[in-house]
Amino acid sequence: MGTLAAKDSIIAGQIVTFHGDPFFMPPEDAVKVAHGAVLIQNGRIAKIADIKTLGEQYPNAMLTDHGDAVITPGFIDAHAHYPQTGIIASWGKRLIDWLNTYTFPEEQRFGDATYARDIADLYLDFLLANGTTSVTSFCTIHPESVDALFEAAAKRGMRIVAGKTCMDRDTAPEGLRDTAQSAYDQSKTLLQRWHQNGRATYAITPRFSPTSTPEQLEALGALWAENPSCLMQTHLSEQTDEIEWVKSLYPEARDYLDTYEKFGLIGKGALFGHAIYLEPREIARLQDSGSSLIHCPTSNTFIGSGLFDMAARKADGLRVGLATDTGGGSSFSMLRTMAASYEIGQLRGTALHPAQLLWLATRGSAEAIHLEHEIGSIAVGLEADLTVIDLASTDAIAQRSSRAQTIWESVFPTIMMGDDRAIAQTYVMGRAMRSS
Ligand code: GUN
Ligand code: ZN
Repeated sequence: MGTLAAKDSIIAGQIVTFHGDPFFMPPEDAVKVAHGAVLIQNGRIAKIADIKTLGEQYPNAMLTDHGDAVITPGFIDAHAHYPQTGIIASWGKRLIDWLNTYTFPEEQRFGDATYARDIADLYLDFLLANGTTSVTSFCTIHPESVDALFEAAAKRGMRIVAGKTCMDRDTAPEGLRDTAQSAYDQSKTLLQRWHQNGRATYAITPRFSPTSTPEQLEALGALWAENPSCLMQTHLSEQTDEIEWVKSLYPEARDYLDTYEKFGLIGKGALFGHAIYLEPREIARLQDSGSSLIHCPTSNTFIGSGLFDMAARKADGLRVGLATDTGGGSSFSMLRTMAASYEIGQLRGTALHPAQLLWLATRGSAEAIHLEHEIGSIAVGLEADLTVIDLASTDAIAQRSSRAQTIWESVFPTIMMGDDRAIAQTYVMGRAMRSS
């Protein structure tokens, strides 16, 4: 006898399906929510139909009916720092002070593999409790921190993107510095170990140009050119004093983006966190290079960075993902992150539709990290990473959603007021990750 095939399963509820980008067509035509069921075979979505049809066609499949709960693609957090889990919600600083006071001391602890593994496990369990099935995370300069996260994700079967954070400039503390050569060598060893290993993707990760020398950016640009199927993640134009700092450290650069561009660190597969303050030249280069932007709204309000212009960047045709930026961001929850994105949109004069918010947290992030052929939608052939959302998870939400006239009116209170209590189940490759 060969090995037994995993049992087929059917999961039913109000299924979210995508029919286009809701920023470029009426949101309610682009994103549909309707009762239905998905058949999962070998961890992938094999069929989408009504529950009765699938039940009759696959009588031996294990059926879970979530009733009126909404089944979305698993949330994708497109930019986070898992080593900052322990310092989330640290008071009173702006970016550079916040890094020096809270972040760098904590990141120095990740040379200890046991500590790194403990935080990686804790962090991924927080994500699953919040309905997030994939994350793109920075690690620390320590290779141990990278192995810890990839191993923790593999143990849970999660699709993950991560990389060693490289910093070799004396703007970073001594215990948190590598060199141009060691950053290249260690990143290369790690990407050979982890890139496309199971569900893992490696991202070459210069932290940001203020903590790298030009030599290090050049070395990492070369490494990316040698390994173009990897992603590249960093930060861009998050705070105005950071931009001034970049100007003083790179006096020849035309603008912040140019410090990356000069070394081949832009293009398809480049992920730029924040990107709040952009010059027209930077927008043009981001567009024609096919780079992605990652919007981190709770971080931008928490650290006092500014208001990302979602409507303008989408109109520019850029790929934009959504992210927590833990622990500059103040929440592990992509529901809270969608709410913050809505609030920033309001302050910018654009009310984002709940369909747009849901799309950003799933398909938008998947497109930004170039994994839309595997995750981010409920569609035949994709991996069955699914999040089940209870639209009445608290009394306060229930009393509001009970008055709803439309599906979007009933979803929106959970986006604005929901937290991990709204996550009824999280499926990774069809496997339920939360005990009920
Ligand atoms: N810029 C460089 N490093 C970081 C970081 O860890 N968090 C945030 N929010 N911005 C950064
Ligand atoms: Zn960040």
